[in-house]
Amino acid sequence: MRNVPIGIFDSGVGGLSVLRALAEKLPHENFIYVADQAYTPYGKRSKEEIINRSERITAWLIKRHCKLIVVACNTATTNAISTLRENFPVSFVGIEPAIKPAALGSKTAVVGVLATQGTLTSELFQNTTNDHAKDIQVITQVGKGLVQLVEAGMADSIEAEIQLKNALKPMLKHPIDHLVLGCTHYPFLIPALKRVLPQSVRIVDCSDAVARQTERLLNDTVLNNSSSRSIQYYSTAPPNKTLWKSFGVENIKMIQV
Ligand code: DGL
Repeated sequence: MRNVPIGIFDSGVGGLSVLRALAEKLPHENFIYVADQAYTPYGKRSKEEIINRSERITAWLIKRHCKLIVVACNTATTNAISTLRENFPVSFVGIEPAIKPAALGSKTAVVGVLATQGTLTSELFQNTTNDHAKDIQVITQVGKGLVQLVEAGMADSIEAEIQLKNALKPMLKHPIDHLVLGCTHYPFLIPALKRVLPQSVRIVDCSDAVARQTERLLNDTVLNNSSSRSIQYYSTAPPNKTLWKSFGVENIKMIQV
């Protein structure tokens, strides 16, 4: 059981930002990464569709004996993780916008959250915001078209900069001092984001927190591996090899889920 892989999924390449943190923190673990590129972006899909896709991928990962599953997608976590936990006999680690550390660290008492529509309208996001940002003003913004840019390999482009500038314009009218990245695709936009944001705004990404939580869970359940390392990559759509190569992935297979 210890040597079996950790499953990880996202609607596309975004979850690679989480995988990067996991692989660094857990150098002896094996991973199976699934990108649901046939259904990307999740952000505009209904809760039912997101649950259905998450369940299908989870079932596929469990068939491959995954000991734990990381939902490396804010949209899938905020819409589907409670259903996944009810329906599958495996532990899940999810990712959701890191409102709490941003709220705790904010001096202006105003923080921004950039996320997909699916995440921002979810009950879990509303509850987390109510719980952790009582005395803080939270300015939310849907990152329209940003996932598609990252999926097109254009994260560090002029187009990305223009789109970010437009998306953040209303938010930057407020004195935000933290910008929470509420989508796992967005860390790849950080170089472009830095060109658009005032220096006083701190970018908050919680991939490291997910890696720490995964490590804790493996320790608690005595499921940590101590031998080899392998990472397998799968996509539900014919993979764009150039895109994957740009993320350092040489080998990726298509699956039907
Ligand atoms: N990377 C995802 C997230 O964290 C999914 C974005 C999408 O497919 O719209 O929300």
